[in-house]
Amino acid sequence: MFKIETTAEKDFRNIPSPCRYCLYWQTSDEYDQKRLKPENETEKQEWVRKVIAEFGPSIQTSYLDGEPIGFVQYAPARFFPRTKEYVSEQPSEDAVFIACLYIVKKEARGNGFGSKMLEQLLADLRKRGYKTVETFARKSSAENPSGPLRLYVKHDFKVKNEEDDFPLVRLEL
Ligand SMILES: CC(C)(COP(=O)(O)OP(=O)(O)OC[C@H]1O[C@@H](n2cnc3c(N)ncnc32)[C@H](O)[C@@H]1OP(=O)(O)O)[C@@H](O)C(=O)NCCC(=O)NCCS
Repeated sequence: MFKIETTAEKDFRNIPSPCRYCLYWQTSDEYDQKRLKPENETEKQEWVRKVIAEFGPSIQTSYLDGEPIGFVQYAPARFFPRTKEYVSEQPSEDAVFIACLYIVKKEARGNGFGSKMLEQLLADLRKRGYKTVETFARKSSAENPSGPLRLYVKHDFKVKNEEDDFPLVRLEL
């Protein structure tokens, strides 16, 4: 059975690895795989606490037969300093920015779970009264924190800037 849950701070440990200790979006200095260490978990949990206090729920975890397999992380772009490095166009201050949409378990990909996570997130944000959602999608490949452009175009996101491989895309809810 597949299910999606909004992750409260007390459920932090349910977030699948490596997302539970990845600080890619939370930092803006040079980043490589060496930085992806379980020791970062406390720092990530601190970030989650702060964002939940200031913005509200910002992570959803999905489970397949009880095993955490998917992760989506979202909040206004000011919580994600890494966005400054993207050249296409900066996210809008009024938008909710999807930093990651990831099915960590490879064998579970291509079964519609990523789409379900995106659709559930958009429905939740609509209920919370947000009007716009943005992300940097990727044109050339699905290997991107929030996934491929095709996924977002299928969900009616519009490309705001064509120039880069990571265009900013936007959906009016
Ligand atoms: C991208 C991702 C979230 C999509 O979730 P999913 O459950 O596999 O996708 P779905 O089955 O819901 O497919 C939805 C749509 O996404 C797009 N898509 C999915 N995988 C794709 C791929 N490999 N290449 C291009 N588009 C793809 C397609 O448009 C697809 O719909 P279609 O097949 O009808 O055209 C998931 O495949 C994933 O996490 N991939 C790894 C990406 C990665 O390496 N991220 C780095 C993380 S830091």
